[in-house]
Amino acid sequence: MLRVGLIGCGFMGAMHANCYKNIEGVELVALADLRPEKAEELAKGTNATLFGDGKDLIANADVDVIDICLPTYLHAEYAILAMDKVKHVFVEKPVALTKEEGEKMLAKSKETGCEVQVGQVIRFWDEYVELKKIVESGAYGKVINANFRRLSPRPTWGWDNWLLDTARSGGAGQDLHIHDIDYVLSLFGEPQEFFTVKNLAGEKNSYVNTLMKYEDFVVGVEGTWDLPATHPFEATFRVVLEKAVVENAGGKFMLYTADAASEIKIEKKELAGEAYKGGNVSDLGGYYNELVYFCQRAAKGEKIEQATLSDGVSSLAFLLKELK
Ligand SMILES: NC(=O)c1ccc[n+]([C@@H]2O[C@H](COP(=O)([O-])OP(=O)(O)OC[C@H]3O[C@@H](n4cnc5c(N)ncnc54)[C@H](O)[C@@H]3O)[C@@H](O)[C@H]2O)c1
Repeated sequence: MLRVGLIGCGFMGAMHANCYKNIEGVELVALADLRPEKAEELAKGTNATLFGDGKDLIANADVDVIDICLPTYLHAEYAILAMDKVKHVFVEKPVALTKEEGEKMLAKSKETGCEVQVGQVIRFWDEYVELKKIVESGAYGKVINANFRRLSPRPTWGWDNWLLDTARSGGAGQDLHIHDIDYVLSLFGEPQEFFTVKNLAGEKNSYVNTLMKYEDFVVGVEGTWDLPATHPFEATFRVVLEKAVVENAGGKFMLYTADAASEIKIEKKELAGEAYKGGNVSDLGGYYNELVYFCQRAAKGEKIEQATLSDGVSSLAFLLKELK
């Protein structure tokens, strides 16, 4: 049995707890949150020991892996402590608030040999995994143009309103737009050039548009959390290839060729328990996939090779250049 300690039992901690409860060979044995009622809620159906501050869990819990779902400004401090305790750590995205913090995490991982996975979940999200396969297969020729959008109402759920405090979250650019930036970097690598325009009115960096120029195609990435609460969350893409268009929009994942418009079917996993309701996420798929990968690697004592700490730090570094 892989014994998991989860720190931070808010929005993302709840999502992760539900995933762990659905992964075979995994037991949620310790939970920490400054708000005891949050940890108690997630402990239902487990025999987990409860802690307040995450540091108490790191110091005292008997665990094999530690998962950090704390606000972004706390990632580096807690992940570094966790790396001294266990051999596998999961830390939510963005990996940290600053590049320096990311580099300290890398140094600690090197020193301890601890394997770290970053919650860049889009790399594990079914439609995006399928898109990568299609592009890399070359079956429909080269990419001509691509667009990725992630548009959200304002995240008002955060503990102590930390998400809407740019000094603690980095704002929409760092918290939300990084999902697509990380995915584009994983698919196409670093662009030759890029050009970013941010909103001039409103909250700093709350609307980001970036054009990434590669040798023979351009990728546009748009991210914001400036939408009103009544607007649905939108995470969409359109990739134009020489012989097809792959589009994920309006709840449909489609392949358009000269002869046919066909839906690409993704088999969704049925999970037991209550999916976390609220926020902007209705599907556990990617979260489940990334944590299955993490748990399998940890259980076998293997290296993390997807969404690595180094990937997370590179994406953060690119993102910070965009927001400069
Ligand atoms: N991968 C994704 O799609 C995704 C989506 C949302 C959030 N996130 C990331 O997950 C992380 C957490 O975000 P969230 O939305 O769950 O925030 P949240 O505010 O809902 O949850 C954070 C929790 O941490 C607790 N906490 C704060 N300090 C603590 C401490 N020292 N010890 C123990 N508990 C403490 C708070 O009480 C709160 O319950 C952030 O890095 C965020 O960017 C990722």
